[in-house]
Amino acid sequence: MSEASTPDVSRHGMWSSRWLFVLAAAGSAVGLGNIWRFPYITGENGGGAFVVVYLLCIAAIGAPVMIAEVMLGRQGRQSPINTMRALAKRSGAPRAWGLVGWLGALTGFFILSYYTVIAGWALFYIFRMGSGMFTGADGALASSAFDAFLADPWMLAAFHTAFVAGTVFIVARGVTAGIERAVRWFMPGLFVLLFVLLGYAMTSGGFGAGLEFMFGMNWSALSVDGVLEALGHAFFTLSVGMGAIMAYGAYVPRSASISSTVLTIAALDTLVALVAGLAIFPVVFANGLEPGQGPGLMFVTVPLAFGQMPLGALFGVVFFVLVTIAAITSSISLLEPALAYAVETHGIRRPRAALALGLVCWVLGLGTVLSFNVWSDIHLVGQMTFFDFMDYATQKVMLPLGGLLIALFAGWVLPKTIVGEQLGLREGVPALAWAVLIKVVAPLGVLAVFAYALLG
Ligand code: TRP
Repeated sequence: MSEASTPDVSRHGMWSSRWLFVLAAAGSAVGLGNIWRFPYITGENGGGAFVVVYLLCIAAIGAPVMIAEVMLGRQGRQSPINTMRALAKRSGAPRAWGLVGWLGALTGFFILSYYTVIAGWALFYIFRMGSGMFTGADGALASSAFDAFLADPWMLAAFHTAFVAGTVFIVARGVTAGIERAVRWFMPGLFVLLFVLLGYAMTSGGFGAGLEFMFGMNWSALSVDGVLEALGHAFFTLSVGMGAIMAYGAYVPRSASISSTVLTIAALDTLVALVAGLAIFPVVFANGLEPGQGPGLMFVTVPLAFGQMPLGALFGVVFFVLVTIAAITSSISLLEPALAYAVETHGIRRPRAALALGLVCWVLGLGTVLSFNVWSDIHLVGQMTFFDFMDYATQKVMLPLGGLLIALFAGWVLPKTIVGEQLGLREGVPALAWAVLIKVVAPLGVLAVFAYALLG
């Protein structure tokens, strides 16, 4: 198909409305990144100063790249790989820009392989909370229960498998039937439960210490690696830098305003992360736990908090159900770019492509499963286990690199007329602000953090 005749609808389907795009994109953005990852990396990086750098990265780099992704997706109306190729051709730029799409598909795949393992933990905790084992539990019990679970590769593998199956099932059903239905209800529910947890945290006796930890400016605690972590997490939490939002952008109706939609999504995503942090850290301090304990942080503190609440087992079940759903609406977006490409280019039917891709990701995920027990002493690079390595490569290298290339393409390669049409920008302050952000601030921001991480 020549790009001049690129249709104004996508062959994969379209969102029923602008609002459903907001829900789907927010469903992609809000996930384990907000509830599991943000609190534990904030804990590992000493709090306050890390949070400031993260917020800066969201506003100055993540949000502009997100706008760029939606814009490119809606202009291309194909999978990210084919969209990048077609738009490069139309801009008179080398076809090699298609490699950005490939890098993204691979990144999504790598992330998905461990994302499904962690989501499996949340799935398992639904049953654990339901068993009532945390009622009245103390920190030691909550910690040792989590460690015992991590030590069991069969259990981890079982729940990883279940989660991969769920993701494949939904993605196989397609854009409207599968993805939209999944996102319509969970967001409000998750919000409510997070506020219940926040309410508990406020009365737990550790709220002051939690606030101080998250917003007190302790710059000496922030390492060079922490800055790179904040940047990588800004991409991760917004789902940008690998084409997921570009793929979803392809299904956005022409009438929707991209910038206000993206700002809504970014604000919502940031709010969920901050509330999750404010719900978790007070529990940490009230119970004498370690804020920097790593990936187990949420799985220790949240059961502990619910265990001390009336009806806690019930709330706990609902909470982990919602986290699991939040994770599934994210994991489907990690698969979508590769899947849309397989369908477009190779004519593979959607369910079959979903199954094949899910299978490969399942196998790769077993590496992460084993890295928490049997392979915990096997280090790939430096002190990194398989999981650490996948996490490092995707967050700290692949996502920022993908985001940098997307910003450069949207800022410097794509013709101004297309940008103007897509974003509804003519001359004036908004057009100038956009140009400065996408051409200069976002790319230089990523380059500066890369340089600082390499030299620092
Ligand atoms: N943003 C999701 C989260 O915070 C994870 C995610 C979904 C993602 N799609 C993505 C991360 C694409 C990077 C790229 O849990």
